[in-house]
Amino acid sequence: MKGLVLSGGKGTRLYPLTYTSAKQLIPVANKPVLFRVIEAIRDANITDIGIVVGDTAEEIERAAGRGGRWGVNISYIHQEAPLGLAHAVKISEDFLGDERFVMFLGDNVIQGGISSLIAQFASSEYNSQVVLTRVDMPEQYGVAELDNEGRIVRLVEKPKEPPSDLALVGIYMFDHHIFEAVNSIAPSWRGELEITDAIQWLVEHDRSVYPYVHRGWWIDTGRPGDMLEANSLVLEELTPHIDGYVDRDSEVDSRVTIEKGAEIINSVVRGPAIIGEDTRLVNSYVGPFTSIYHHVLIENAEISRSIVLEHSQIRNLDQRIEDSLIGRHVIIHRSPIRPRAYKFTIGDHSHLGLLGNGR
Ligand code: TTP
Repeated sequence: MKGLVLSGGKGTRLYPLTYTSAKQLIPVANKPVLFRVIEAIRDANITDIGIVVGDTAEEIERAAGRGGRWGVNISYIHQEAPLGLAHAVKISEDFLGDERFVMFLGDNVIQGGISSLIAQFASSEYNSQVVLTRVDMPEQYGVAELDNEGRIVRLVEKPKEPPSDLALVGIYMFDHHIFEAVNSIAPSWRGELEITDAIQWLVEHDRSVYPYVHRGWWIDTGRPGDMLEANSLVLEELTPHIDGYVDRDSEVDSRVTIEKGAEIINSVVRGPAIIGEDTRLVNSYVGPFTSIYHHVLIENAEISRSIVLEHSQIRNLDQRIEDSLIGRHVIIHRSPIRPRAYKFTIGDHSHLGLLGNGR
């Protein structure tokens, strides 16, 4: 089998972070989501992986390379524009050939990997298998309708009256019949070739499409809140280790990972949390569910349930930062210069939550 990872797209819901870089490279527990996807595919013993890339191709190719570090072979497939998930399959036909394959959205994080679902599909005669999970509010997702024999008969996007509570996870398995489907369908109202339409085409042309019901969590990291949620869930499962320096005045919980070259000086870190390479914490507090990436400085400040990306600085704050996603090379500090006022240099589409006067 082969693997196809979708890593094009625009990532508009994660602006401003994704104005300048690929959303699939935002780290969750200090590892880019895309790397977690590649590892999940590798762990299912698939070594031929194609990555569909768009505007951020260069950055993604620089980060993931040819795949040697994971023991896999990565090929890159260029998509001229994000014309839909089925379009991504269509342009990957030369790479995929006649092989069965798994398609994985490069911004999804799934608990427990994909080995069991790959094993099931590989030993089946199904033309396609779609990974589904039970959700509380199916009307907010793409949902599958099954027949009495358990086959998928219909996929509906955000249905007012959901036919089931089984939502699409963003992992699909196909054989070569999918190419006939993606070449037969027309773009949807939003101008994209939809994978749900292609699957519907398979169903209507008597191909066997079965569900695989995933138990455990799964997160589509499309929005900042999802990113923080994925970060919390992955941190909870991390096996902690301390490779950096912790001074005697600091207090570090058992569920904390301190990476190489990091320094914790007179600070408190409560787990689960991770402090990245060459990052310094000085007179500070880092609370649970926080990931601080590499080369960050946090001094005289408090932060919890947040993600801070590389080369940022947070200094001399009176108030704790919480539930925040902070980009690269960001500086947040209490300004020593009068007048005492908020002073911002902020990109388009930024979100700031400021404290009111005690309210
Ligand atoms: P989406 O989250 O549906 O789209 P997006 O990345 O453009 O995000 P937003 O809605 O915030 O603008 O895409 C899911 C994944 O599939 C993501 O990793 C990007 C990738 N993708 C492609 O590679 N090609 C495409 O044509 C599309 C639509 C998405």
